[in-house]
Amino acid sequence: MRSRDVSKPLSTNPHLRKWVQKMAELTQPAAIHWVDGSQGEYDALCAQMVESGTFIKLNEQLWPGCYYARSDAGDVARVEDRTYVCSLSRDSAGPTNHWVDPFEMRRKLKTLFSGAMAGRTMYVLPFSMGPVGSPMAQIGVQLTDSPYVVVSMRIMARIGLPVFREIDREAKRVVPCLHSVGAPLRPGQKDVPWPCKPEKYIVHFPESREIWSYGSGYGGNALLGKKCFALRIASNMARDEGWMAEHMLILGVENPQGEKTYVAAAFPSACGKTNFAMLVPPAAFQGWKVWTVGDDIAWLRPDANGRLRAINPESGFFGVVPGTSVKTNPNAMAALAKNTIFTNVALTPEGGVWWEGMTETPPSECLDWQGRPWTPALARETGAKAAHPNARFTAPASQCPTIDPDWEKPEGVPISAIVFGGRRATTMPLVYQAFNWSAGVYMGATMGSEMTAAAAGALGKVRRDPFAMLPFCGYHMGDYFRHWIKMQRSLSETPRIFHVNWFRKDAEGRFLWPGFSDNMRVLKWIVDRARGRALGRETPIGWQPRYEDLEWKGLEFSRETFDALQSFDRSAWRSEIIGHEELFIDLHSHLPKELIYERELLICRM
Ligand code: GTP
Ligand code: SPV
Ligand code: MN
Repeated sequence: MRSRDVSKPLSTNPHLRKWVQKMAELTQPAAIHWVDGSQGEYDALCAQMVESGTFIKLNEQLWPGCYYARSDAGDVARVEDRTYVCSLSRDSAGPTNHWVDPFEMRRKLKTLFSGAMAGRTMYVLPFSMGPVGSPMAQIGVQLTDSPYVVVSMRIMARIGLPVFREIDREAKRVVPCLHSVGAPLRPGQKDVPWPCKPEKYIVHFPESREIWSYGSGYGGNALLGKKCFALRIASNMARDEGWMAEHMLILGVENPQGEKTYVAAAFPSACGKTNFAMLVPPAAFQGWKVWTVGDDIAWLRPDANGRLRAINPESGFFGVVPGTSVKTNPNAMAALAKNTIFTNVALTPEGGVWWEGMTETPPSECLDWQGRPWTPALARETGAKAAHPNARFTAPASQCPTIDPDWEKPEGVPISAIVFGGRRATTMPLVYQAFNWSAGVYMGATMGSEMTAAAAGALGKVRRDPFAMLPFCGYHMGDYFRHWIKMQRSLSETPRIFHVNWFRKDAEGRFLWPGFSDNMRVLKWIVDRARGRALGRETPIGWQPRYEDLEWKGLEFSRETFDALQSFDRSAWRSEIIGHEELFIDLHSHLPKELIYERELLICRM
């Protein structure tokens, strides 16, 4: 087969070609590669990265089509303190975003990007968030000097020729995304396996709908379709156009009668979205099935009848690896069994991968995520982890055994319930239901969670993370709350709203709730409530199931433990509400009055 000339533009769109030209003049790449998105191109890029040392090809018998990468030790997670929303006015970014004057930031970026791609190839990577041609899809073009990003994006989004065709039809506005790892190569200079720069900039210009990312090759910092586009930029589009861009998984629950109910759920990073989206009902739940539509991001829009519909804008999973096992998430294990890219897990002597929680017995030896020898004895002595806590797998969604038959439906799936949740050792019950939409918005707005390894920062500390969107809302959080309140008006039927907490602990620090599969017991109550056929009892914070309202078949779980899990602790809630108030003070000038009233009502009920 004759190879194509990759430097030949694959688009006739004059705006795109001019922009590529201009950015090449700025960044000075050694070559330009227009990405067609083919399997052949993917294979060639992977082979090239094996050659350069970025990738290790895993044992084909054990892990067919899989590759292994180790990142730089300083480039392992999203960098929230280096993430900027550069709106024209500081006020539109709000106090929860880092803001820099856009003119000043552009000047800074011009300097940083000047010659940044020297010695490297600039890839022109068109991508569609959402099925190509779906009325709910959006298009971007990422210019990047990272082949790791190109192959990862081929899994995570729809890329290549079909997207260029959309761009050539000029059917949609294109979001320009410029990305460099910030490590130009001098002639003859030897490259490192994971080029990056200590000084990182993840920058969004919401008005002009642009993304500039510099210095990182990892995850949400670099796969710009994901958090940068599908949440930060898309939340701006959604506000302007009357839809919602949310950090939510989407799943469908099918009951034994064949009735299907779709649920969307917002949990902060590393708080269980992927696991919940791929839930396997306990054996006792015969005839029940959970279908996966998405595991991280949902775009929701009212249809012509006022029903809220959701699409998953992505086509792959960028999932947390540690803790993932055949026991906890067999569907993720099946999804990642082939054609997957593993980053920052451990490498076994057979050319396989391993991570904490994958198997009960660890391998007797392996190389850790930084390539150092690791043994179980070393772990016992020093606590050294074989895999980084934010190690990730990048796997095609189509490989998930429970992928919903309708997951690529252009018009999306109808949403009947919205679930919020976080990682809370105390205070928050296993599950409760908001009294109505505005109480539900209050519930989402005041969510809190203990911080995880998904972002650089203090682990374990409870922080307010409204709608799990604190790091992802691309404009003023108070205006975002208002948008949520307003959405009710365009809905003929509002989804019911719930809050869950799988992470409540006892006095000894053990989880009170088994979680994972058993979350089905809670999910069933949620679906039945949304369908108006389950009972509960009214409490100061909302509706809660009584012990007898949950299905306990196949699980021995005492009424006492359930009561401990669901208990309402007045003094803990007192401090909780003071925590809400702290957030509200920060957002005061943009806070919708509905939320102030909701807070008053909550205090009165208590
Ligand atoms: P992001 O991809 O960062 O947005 O994370 P996520 O929300 O998809 O989280 P994920 O499902 O990957 O879970 C993160 C961690 O929480 C993993 O270590 C899981 O094992 C753990 N986890 C998930 N569900 C449960 C649960 O029901 N109970 C307990 N105890 N842990 C859970
Ligand atoms: C998250 O942190 O919420 C993720 C991983 O889903 S990343 O793509 O890096 O943002
Ligand atoms: Mn996420």
